Amino acid sequence: MAETIPDLRGIPKERAYTELHAHGEAILEGIRDEIAGMATISSLVHNAFGHLWTGFYRVVEPGALLRVGPYQGSLGCLEIAFGRGVCGTAAAEGRTIIVPDVEKFPGHIACDSRARSEIVVPVMDDKGSLIGVLDVDSERLDSFDHDDQRGLEKMVSWFSSAGRHQ
Ligand code: SME
Repeated sequence: MAETIPDLRGIPKERAYTELHAHGEAILEGIRDEIAGMATISSLVHNAFGHLWTGFYRVVEPGALLRVGPYQGSLGCLEIAFGRGVCGTAAAEGRTIIVPDVEKFPGHIACDSRARSEIVVPVMDDKGSLIGVLDVDSERLDSFDHDDQRGLEKMVSWFSSAGRHQ
């Protein structure tokens, strides 16, 4: 395989995510393994946009504990309890959370002091069970908006797509 990752910085986000999603679907065609999917999607999102940290936290104790999964960037915290930080809150509430300024999010967990803004998206399997979250961190304030929410939710829909489980 000689796939490359497009550099999508500077192009409108909606178009960027449409391109990245198609790229990911093509690369992962025929693959069902969740860890392979997490590794591939982390790499695509991280490198296409040049983020600070991009990766997954996996549910290892439903309703209680997340543990780090495949990621790109500097060292991530290993475990996060449900309800703690942005990741644990997104997991507990089952919804995407956009944090324009991490210093204004009570309980934000700073794995990398350079992080300024963040988005965390829940990841479901084909039965609708939460299997983890996708966390993306930026060195810039206010990096993420609803286009990122839509785009990243589409990227992680790979984990719940029927095709993956045929
Ligand atoms: N900032 C996250 C923790 C994970 S790291 O940033 C990689 C949080 O508050 O949940």
